[in-house]
Amino acid sequence: MKTEDAIQQLGRRIKPDSRITVLTGAGVSAASGVPTFRGPDGLWKNHPPEQLATPEAFRRDPRLVWEWYNWRRERIRGCQPNAAHLTLAAWSRRFPEFRLITQNVDGLHEKAGTENVIRFHGSIWEVLCWDRCAGSPPRWWDETVPFPMVPPKCPHCGGLLRPGVVWFGEGIDPDVLERSAAALNCDLFFSVGTSAVVYPAAGLASQARRHGAYTIEVNVEGTPASNLLDLSVQAPAEEVLPALDLLLQSKF
Ligand code: OAD
Repeated sequence: MKTEDAIQQLGRRIKPDSRITVLTGAGVSAASGVPTFRGPDGLWKNHPPEQLATPEAFRRDPRLVWEWYNWRRERIRGCQPNAAHLTLAAWSRRFPEFRLITQNVDGLHEKAGTENVIRFHGSIWEVLCWDRCAGSPPRWWDETVPFPMVPPKCPHCGGLLRPGVVWFGEGIDPDVLERSAAALNCDLFFSVGTSAVVYPAAGLASQARRHGAYTIEVNVEGTPASNLLDLSVQAPAEEVLPALDLLLQSKF
């Protein structure tokens, strides 16, 4: 289906009181200049993310892992929300039961003004003690860029600090899982800018569909989810979402 036709179809389906849940991935931040994980820009010094974003990698070489996070923090700090983030922030104020689940750790949804973001994979701006020492809080905010010394030290015990993100092989925070499960109860579920390969996030759209939601994918290319959902729109998020928003504004 042509992008314009898909937008028209969505425009007819969305009502002022529609309950909308959106899951986002790295593609939403691509237009802001944040590298995606699996795109052409996705490898850092020839290390695939799956080999850096693990507790084993950190145990083996915390300095290498922190150099990658220092680089990403530096890249992200200079990035601004794009039209996709801004549209979703506007929807969070307009729709009564809007929920945004993001796999992104960059904080751009919050910077765009979206409140109550469900951060499925944590935040790159949070840190915690690797040893979870008794003197430290569970996690805390630290926007130091770059850390002058890598790996940075825990100010409470002098051990290692780690980024407050979820790594491969680690579980999702139970509170986040609970809030995400509640968000599956919606009328429309959008899966935007995600390659839909990293579970459990990748399973959310199909679960929402089983709960009765109309499910939509927005991505510049097809993904394993494309054929499982109700509508697949193959175009950039920063174009599709504002165009749909414009149409909705003309309606209500
Ligand atoms: P990926 O890098 O795997 O996928 C990004 C997706 O965005 C791809 O499917 C692209 O086709 C699409 N894309 C790129 N530009 C776009 C645009 N302008 N508009 C719409 N879509 C676009 O990123 P994620 O799916 O977010 O996890 O990756 C999932 C998780 O894997 C991440 O959260 C991270 C990673 O390893 C952890 O670190 C645990």
